[in-house]
Amino acid sequence: MITNVTEYEAIAKEKLPKMVYDYYASGAEDQWTLKENRNAFSRILFRPRILVDVSKIDLTTTVLGFKISMPIMIAPTAMQKMAHPEGESATARAASAAGTIMTLSSWSTSSVEEVASTGPGIRFFQLYVLKDRNVVTQLVKRAERAGFKAIALTVDTPMLGRREADIKNRFTLPPNLVLKNFEGLDLGKLERTDDSGLASYVARQTDRSLNWKDVKWLQTITSLPILVKGVLTAEDTKIAVQAGAAGIIVSNHGARQLDYVPATITALEEVVKAAQGRVPVFLDGGIRRGTDVFKALALGASGVFIGRPVVFSLAADGEAGVRKVLEILHDEFELTMALTGCRSVNEISRDHVVTEWDRPRIAPRL
Ligand code: GLV
Repeated sequence: MITNVTEYEAIAKEKLPKMVYDYYASGAEDQWTLKENRNAFSRILFRPRILVDVSKIDLTTTVLGFKISMPIMIAPTAMQKMAHPEGESATARAASAAGTIMTLSSWSTSSVEEVASTGPGIRFFQLYVLKDRNVVTQLVKRAERAGFKAIALTVDTPMLGRREADIKNRFTLPPNLVLKNFEGLDLGKLERTDDSGLASYVARQTDRSLNWKDVKWLQTITSLPILVKGVLTAEDTKIAVQAGAAGIIVSNHGARQLDYVPATITALEEVVKAAQGRVPVFLDGGIRRGTDVFKALALGASGVFIGRPVVFSLAADGEAGVRKVLEILHDEFELTMALTGCRSVNEISRDHVVTEWDRPRIAPRL
């Protein structure tokens, strides 16, 4: 019996080929940030309020104008058919059943149209900007036509981070799968190389010259709101807001890019302060518990995205696994709200947590 979302990882490890499991599980280099993404949550403690009537708790929230069942959404993770034959379509159905948002990766093994055809649901599209801007323009337009509601522009990957397991395994996409959004173009397959096949792909195809001007360019080819995904500093937050971002995702790419960047939960507050309430700030990285979701919201996030728990539960049990992950996190988050005395997400405040950077903290004046 599964009682928490972390348990899916061991099941996935048993079921999946080593190359696939390692690809999903790995972080960059020493994997310090990978561990820190989790550890940093454990250093944030609660200041629960008691004797609040919590007989009714409302977990709903609004993201870019869309009402969702809870502030827990699905992050983009690549090549989900390696985890399960139904891949991204199963994830899309699970998200929609849970009443929340799924973000589809550019490097998905199901196309934007296939995912859209699974039925109604609010979906975002994660974008890697390739050197060939015609391909990017066409893809963004396809996502828009397929009903995707926002673009999450990944900005932390001019080169792929060094994931040593992928290098050792000579990671490549299994022969029966393609990067479906690029099928028919020269861009659908990863070549087998002496290195990580994905690192070589990125080196060949993605545009290393990507810069802030391109955030403006993107706004000329789409009217969809753009979330800048991969921000970790106040400086970049200010530029992103000026460049017209509709929101910021504090992300270190699941600790798969630059090692020794702080945990996202550690960087969050700096970004929230710099955003000055002008755009919503979201977070991904290391969320495994409802308490983690609460901590992110207490530090100013408008919502969180989960990545690895989705692919591991998908590997373990397909759509039912992803549904279960969303249900467990929903229930744990509701319980955390009850035990901290919060009846709605708006009631979650900075005073409900204490971090190591505000210790010793003086109790608020009554
Ligand atoms: C895909 O985005 C990856 O980081 O492997």
